[in-house]
Amino acid sequence: MDPYRVWLSEIMLQQTTVTAVIPYYERFVSRYPTVTDLAAAPLDDVLSAWAGLGYYARARNLHACARQVTEIGGFPPDLAALRALPGIGVYTASAIASIAFGVPTVPVDGNVERVTARLFAIESPLPAAKPAVRAAADRLGDDPDARARPSDFTQALFDLGATICTPAAPGCAVCPWMDHCAARQAGIAASLPRKAPKKARPVRYGVHFWLTDRQGHVLLRQRPPSGLLGGMTELPGTPWRDSPWSPEESMAHAPATANWRSAGQVRHGFTHFELILDLFAATTASLPASGLILPQDRLDEAALPSVMRKCVQAVSGS
Ligand code: ADE
Repeated sequence: MDPYRVWLSEIMLQQTTVTAVIPYYERFVSRYPTVTDLAAAPLDDVLSAWAGLGYYARARNLHACARQVTEIGGFPPDLAALRALPGIGVYTASAIASIAFGVPTVPVDGNVERVTARLFAIESPLPAAKPAVRAAADRLGDDPDARARPSDFTQALFDLGATICTPAAPGCAVCPWMDHCAARQAGIAASLPRKAPKKARPVRYGVHFWLTDRQGHVLLRQRPPSGLLGGMTELPGTPWRDSPWSPEESMAHAPATANWRSAGQVRHGFTHFELILDLFAATTASLPASGLILPQDRLDEAALPSVMRKCVQAVSGS
């Protein structure tokens, strides 16, 4: 299988569902048919094509990785060399090695964790149980049939987890491994893997401003190149902090003095915090020349992250 396509899909599938990934994947392979094409593209184009998929460090690493791979003449076929590339962790290296190169290794993602915890009835809760699950997955991979066809084995394990060994109501009655599954025999399949209680995510607050001129242009800006949503485009606004902003405080961050009206609120979940953004909108005779200015009907060309797309939608409906 084409390592470029395997790699691209695995990076996109980190933290994102197959359904959400498919249109992006198809757009990427038609726009950048090979890793060399991707490496030759400007980073901004790649970030724009990625916009909406989230976790934007992935897009920057994707581009950096494409350049390295092009330089060394192709994807390396072994775990350690794959692991050394930008954006490729233990799981992704193992997925690419097994699927694209037939290396006998079992990538352990959430699906594989669930299948394995059930098959071996590992009852201690995650994440403490991770090493035990890893060891059990390695034992699975040692099966002669698995070693003979690593690519099919990995894909079959993913598909078993996605379609039969599902989180809430596993289809044990139709499972090809029903006779070997310790959790099924003990009647505890649906309750595994157990998970330690999660800590509540902290809430952060911000305010963003939708400033348009009479010709329908909107004012945007680029986020700093590193950190959360690095290099992506956003509406101008306040920093995000642990306490809400009063209207007076937030106006100190408005991009212009204008007749601001309240234009709704947006909530967005990031991995480590929940964000609540208040929105203000105004129209002005002329936009500040220093900003990034785009016609409203061409916003889809900007590298707007999902949280900012939500803001645009909220403002449009307000
Ligand atoms: N999630 C991550 N990698 C996958 C794959 N190869 N098939 C299905 N789901 C996946």
